[in-house]
Amino acid sequence: MSDLTEAFVDSHDFKTQLSETAGAAFVSEGFEASAGRVNASDRPDLADFQCNGALAVAKAAKANPREVAGKIISHFSADDRLKAVDIAGPGFLNFVLSEDALSQRANALASDARLGAPKVAARRKIIIDFGGPNVAKEMHIGHLRTAVIGESLKRVMRFMGDEVMGDAHFGDWGYQMGLLIVAVSEEQPDLPYFDAAFTGDYPTEAPVSLEDLGRLYPATAKRVKDGDEALRDKAKVATRELQHGRVGYRALWQHFVTVSRQALIRDYGALNVTFDWWKGESDADPYIEPMIVDLKAKGLLVPDQGAQIVRVAREDDKKDIPPLLVVSSEGSSMYGTTDLATIVQRNAEFGPDLTLYVVDQRQSAHFEQVYRAAYLAGYAKPGQLEHAANGTVNGPDGTPFKTRDGGTLKLHDLVSQAVEKATSRLHEAGLGEGLSETEFADTAHKVAVAALKFAELSNHRLTNYIFDLDRFMSFEGKTGPYLLYQAVRMKSILRKAGDQGVSAGAITVGEPAERELVLLLDAFDNALKESYLKRAPNLLADHVYKLAQGFSKFYANCPVLVGDDAAVKASRLGLVTLTLKQLELGLDLMGLSAPEQM
Ligand code: ARG
Repeated sequence: MSDLTEAFVDSHDFKTQLSETAGAAFVSEGFEASAGRVNASDRPDLADFQCNGALAVAKAAKANPREVAGKIISHFSADDRLKAVDIAGPGFLNFVLSEDALSQRANALASDARLGAPKVAARRKIIIDFGGPNVAKEMHIGHLRTAVIGESLKRVMRFMGDEVMGDAHFGDWGYQMGLLIVAVSEEQPDLPYFDAAFTGDYPTEAPVSLEDLGRLYPATAKRVKDGDEALRDKAKVATRELQHGRVGYRALWQHFVTVSRQALIRDYGALNVTFDWWKGESDADPYIEPMIVDLKAKGLLVPDQGAQIVRVAREDDKKDIPPLLVVSSEGSSMYGTTDLATIVQRNAEFGPDLTLYVVDQRQSAHFEQVYRAAYLAGYAKPGQLEHAANGTVNGPDGTPFKTRDGGTLKLHDLVSQAVEKATSRLHEAGLGEGLSETEFADTAHKVAVAALKFAELSNHRLTNYIFDLDRFMSFEGKTGPYLLYQAVRMKSILRKAGDQGVSAGAITVGEPAERELVLLLDAFDNALKESYLKRAPNLLADHVYKLAQGFSKFYANCPVLVGDDAAVKASRLGLVTLTLKQLELGLDLMGLSAPEQM
């Protein structure tokens, strides 16, 4: 993790507040403040929060933990935030909040523009390198992960106050470009791009469509794989010539990039994923030559069997870390070369304090090499480059997901399938019947996207999860559609209240389900801090899910618009209003949005 401090301005959530008081109590009794860490209770039936610190410090001091706990508890005796505080078991401290304290907190949250979200104490410049699509390769289900996780991290970090740039880091510069040039030259040899002596203007219209690219690339790659060495060599030569500036190749390549990018922007757009930069590997190209000079001058770049490498292994490495290949024996730059030069480029163009690479964990060895080379060369300080790795999306057999015919499922088709399924689910559940055709289509799309993205975000990014559209699309359980459904229920309560002329007022906590809901709203602060620090949107996803559940339970137990007590109505309506706001903010931070009606 970065050596830059990751301190927060918190929203005075209970966990932080109580930890502060408990920490001070431990200090005044001669212990470390850290012993005062307070967490949500493991036994919500007994307490709201607990502190286990007395056990740890007593052990170290060879003291009786219950006695230590007794000393700490005395510091809370006149604390009017608490209804009860007691020592449980071997020396845990259990805290039960007073209804007053909960009511006050709820009202503070309701009037807080950030709804209880913390902020970073110091703004950092962060690049999130995610998505990582490649020219001419259609996106498949695997690309869903990095896109969805990266998008959410981008939103969370930006909302927390950092200056964040999302970069698609388009794969537009490697050997596959040479392969495509050769493939097009075979099919359309008369195009001017291949004529080295051509001096006119190249056509502005692309000689290949997206479909052409999608057909040519796999077919040509397969021929090489099947042993066509002549083709491979031609592609390598073309790659080198492209990279060294052959004009016709550059012009043709520009078409590949443009055609692909348009399609990718459309596919990402359908998932509500956007990038601030569509920089590609090729944008690092101008930085490669000077970087090579610099690496040589620093004595880091050394010849090795015709190639040039940077040795990155260290004495104390437990495993073998191979050198970074910077210039291949054919004179081409490699994946590692562009990644290293991209670091130099980003320093020059943005100067990030942190760069997060949201990329498949199978590339972790690659990033280890690149990062080490960057640290050796002084292009970054340790901790400024971080791989937020993700696992794979698997089929029912536990291996990376394949379609029935063994192919990969294209992202485009996946989204269409999901929309179809969402449509039939809505019909089955009798939902969306009052909507116009366009409203219904919008709702079905939102449900589909929520199903796909939440399935992704509810798992830790490293977990390999099984793709199961039926389950993801259910309106019950920990799913995206469930979240949207609860949001829509809240919206309909608010509409009804509007019709009845009831308005939200000060929140007074009384019923257990109200307590629970306010405690959940209060926990937003910490859920965000943790997702931020651990680069783990699943912790935010957990929070949003619990909040939706908490609302559902509240609504089952606490009627909102019934009864004669105007203050109760106004209070409960206030609670629904606040819950909806926080839920919608949470959805937005996951890149989801709820429809108005279902
Ligand atoms: N285009 C790469 C791939 O498909 C992913 C790029 C990830 N980002 C990076 N800076 N290397 O594997």
